[in-house]
Amino acid sequence: MSNLLVTGGAGFIGSNFVHYVLEHTDHTVTVLDKLTYAGNLASLEGLPAGRFRFVKGDIADASVVDGLVAEADAVVHYAAESHNDNSLDDPRPFLDTNIIGTYTLVEAARRHGKRFHHISTDEVYGDLELDDPERFTEQTPYNPSSPYSSTKAGSDLLVRAWVRSFGLQATISNCSNNYGPYQHVEKFIPRQITNVLRGERPKLYGTGENVRDWIHANDHSSAVLTILEKGVIGETYLIGADGEKNNKEVVEAILVALGQPTDAYDLVTDRPGHDLRYAIDSTKLRTELGWTPQYSDFASGLADTIAWYRDNEAWWAPQKDATEARYRAQGQ
Ligand code: NAD
Ligand code: DAU
Repeated sequence: MSNLLVTGGAGFIGSNFVHYVLEHTDHTVTVLDKLTYAGNLASLEGLPAGRFRFVKGDIADASVVDGLVAEADAVVHYAAESHNDNSLDDPRPFLDTNIIGTYTLVEAARRHGKRFHHISTDEVYGDLELDDPERFTEQTPYNPSSPYSSTKAGSDLLVRAWVRSFGLQATISNCSNNYGPYQHVEKFIPRQITNVLRGERPKLYGTGENVRDWIHANDHSSAVLTILEKGVIGETYLIGADGEKNNKEVVEAILVALGQPTDAYDLVTDRPGHDLRYAIDSTKLRTELGWTPQYSDFASGLADTIAWYRDNEAWWAPQKDATEARYRAQGQ
């Protein structure tokens, strides 16, 4: 039994991880989260008080971070500014949190000799052609496209350097696009589901041909736990569940599930620098650590996710108007 410090645990993937850990292990969890617009305490309701504690604070604030890292057995670092569109509008918070925040955490983990797991993204590798036979592997060179992905790439490189130069006991994982409950309505799948639930049309960037490699958030959580338990210090593991779909297919599936015609969406101005395709080869994680995804049927995972948003309007409604206003201000 360990005490995990989970940064960003009030966000989408972090909160799913906290629920997963408390359900499937004996670990205790402390969440450190700044509660930016993306953090939501409602995502952590109902957790067992004896095994769970929430601390509001900034990962870039060494005075907060130091004591919490000292108390923990391991740090699982999810906190980030995570949305590409926001990074194109205002990159600065991405540098502060993703770079300086990660620096602050690895320094504390080094000082206290603590196990550190860094959560990152497949976007650090740039993008693939639609017909590229190769997928991303741990050997793919870094080639990030956006302010978001470049700051994530920078944070990965900090962790690698701290392992080599200071002996930090760290692992890194780079995962593909997650879906599931508690995802902010700024992101593609929840934005389109909640648009349709509100009687509005989904918004597809460009022609909708861009491909993402979808994985259920619970599969991401089980992979991270596997790496924490069995991962080799200094190693990077790619996490993916063979879930490639283009955006048009995903919007059409949402429309069908909600009883709408498949063409009831709008094509809107494309995202500048929009990555064309991501695809993960997770052979290393599967063969070396024995991980397998459990939610490999995207259609049923999507149906569950749609049902969750239909049943939890009180969770997302307060964010929806502000999110759409932000998109309008960004030119959509
Ligand atoms: P999110 O935006 O939903 O959540 C981020 C959380 O971090 C929020 O709760 C926010 O309040 C918190 N936070 C932000 N800045 C902070 C700071 N300075 N100090 C403390 N807390 C802060 O993000 P997400 O989609 O859950 O992503 C979590 C992590 O997973 C990120 O590191 C992201 O790069 C990575 N990732 C995401 C995906 C995906 O599909 N969403 C895929 C691969 C990797
Ligand atoms: O690949 C992992 C990454 O996945 C994570 O590192 C990021 O944190 C996460 O946000 C996600 O990045 P994307 O940019 O792929 O996700 P997003 O949900 O913003 O968009 C998914 C795709 O859908 C992308 O091709 C852009 C498109 N899109 C997005 C929105 C919000 C639309 O067509 N319409 C939209 O309204």
